[in-house]
Amino acid sequence: MIRRNLRLPASGAYSSLTKGRTSMALSYPKLPATSLSFSPKISQKNFPFKPAVCSSSFSSSSLSSSSFSLFNPSPSNEMAPLTVDKLNEHVVNAKYAVRGRLALRAEELREQLKANPGSLPFKKVVNANIGNPQQLDQNPITFYRQVLALVQYPDLLKNPDSELLFKKDAIERAKFLINEIGSVGAYSHSKGIPAVRKSVAKFIEQRDGFPSDPERIYLCAGASIGVTQLLSALSTGPTSGFLIPIPQYPLYSATLTLVNSTAVQYHLDEKKGWATNVDEVRSIVDAAKLQNIDLKSIVVINPGNPTGAILSEQNIRDIIDVAADDHLVIIADEVYQANVFVGEFISFKKVLRKLQQENPGSKYDSVQLASIHSTSKGMIGECGQRGGYMELTGFHPEVEEHIYKLASIALCPVVTGQVLTELMVNPPAPGGDSYETFISEYNGIFNTLKHRANNLYQAFKQMEGVEVQEPQGAMYLFPRITIPQKAIDAAKEVNEVADEFYCLQLLERTGICVIPGSGFGQQEGTWHFRTTFLAPGDDYAIDLVNFHKEFMDKYRD
Ligand SMILES: Cc1ncc(COP(=O)(O)O)c(C=O)c1O
Repeated sequence: MIRRNLRLPASGAYSSLTKGRTSMALSYPKLPATSLSFSPKISQKNFPFKPAVCSSSFSSSSLSSSSFSLFNPSPSNEMAPLTVDKLNEHVVNAKYAVRGRLALRAEELREQLKANPGSLPFKKVVNANIGNPQQLDQNPITFYRQVLALVQYPDLLKNPDSELLFKKDAIERAKFLINEIGSVGAYSHSKGIPAVRKSVAKFIEQRDGFPSDPERIYLCAGASIGVTQLLSALSTGPTSGFLIPIPQYPLYSATLTLVNSTAVQYHLDEKKGWATNVDEVRSIVDAAKLQNIDLKSIVVINPGNPTGAILSEQNIRDIIDVAADDHLVIIADEVYQANVFVGEFISFKKVLRKLQQENPGSKYDSVQLASIHSTSKGMIGECGQRGGYMELTGFHPEVEEHIYKLASIALCPVVTGQVLTELMVNPPAPGGDSYETFISEYNGIFNTLKHRANNLYQAFKQMEGVEVQEPQGAMYLFPRITIPQKAIDAAKEVNEVADEFYCLQLLERTGICVIPGSGFGQQEGTWHFRTTFLAPGDDYAIDLVNFHKEFMDKYRD
């Protein structure tokens, strides 16, 4: 039997073996009908596609109707021979709520507002569904973009005015990087540019106080790629199991579906600020063994998405203990390590090295850890530029060879993303020309996020039937909502899950797009939603409070 997304009760036997639901009914937005397809009669030697408006010789009026046709690929083409039942079933079954039904509806509403402002009860759509800081109002940090601009277009360095436009330390860093990289338009080493990997290793050493080897660092085009490569390499079919936290970031469940492996769920403890209950994890490991699940790995997200919780050092020690006893690879997703508002981020690598130091020649020596970081989050927030890295600790060299091979199949991570990774781990030094601006921008973003998190937290605390944990880290709040039975029944009538029903109504009434808890996993019978706290202004929190009141007034039992 193929088992996926297992929820193993701490008591032993499986409570439910839920094979991933088939894909959500998605309504796809219509493709624009305006793409032009040029006939071969038009000779465009070097440019297969030239916008008509830019050139008099190719103005649309000069083209006869026979020389081009309007190309309108209809998404409902009944004639297309490839149908969904002929697709890879794992692709069809994979679910990714963060960009699912709610997000698609939000895009439709945004288009509607553009075409017909005033046609909806709100003025704008607020994407609180995804941790995408620069989609909202977070500005890029100047130093990062100055270096990036110079690396992209090195001729700027020859411009006599470049020293007026760019800070001295940005110019120096760009020259250093250009010297190491050559052109960002060329493929780099598949593991990433050696000089960047050296900077990453230095950053890790300074952060943890333990050495790091640049050869164990793999740069990747966003953390997602590192995670996908690891899960692909470790998966050996449906009986291979991966412990994932619930609630979880759906990259994990979706990728495990894609690679046809089994997600074995361990529940975070909401009552204890979403802490990891290691005794429960141990029971689940034992139960999985009884079911002949070959457990490969435990995934830990710290700080948590969607929970925002930060693991204590003791929690991390306990998780490493379980991994050491059962030879589980630890995948430590640490992409939110700079988004810490309460307490302290401690890396798995640091705690592992401490355990190894405290217990020489012990089980900890054989622990295998993949630590992942990204340029998408923190104060850098450059999600679209696709940068990040993973550091492998304790892996067998022959295993690493195959992970390296996966990196090679993808040729190389985006080179500009690698540049940003270097900048993230090696920010401007005190005394440099960019330093003051950098610190002020960095702190400005940090304080704004903290303020917005608290603002939203206070708003949730006032709302009827809502419980929420104090925001500790990451970019999200994951409030628990009490949905009245009348609303649950109304949701059933329209074939929706209750929290999805709530979130869809919120979107339709206010333009606020959040993600239902069911997209991340939640204890049965509980309802949540995840919102980022990236949205600017106080209106956002006020709209949420008002909507919730309206909803409760309508459906209160
Ligand atoms: C926990 C977690 N891991 C990984 C990612 C993916 O990050 P990246 O943009 O680096 O691929 C995200 C994105 O939101 C995330 O929340």
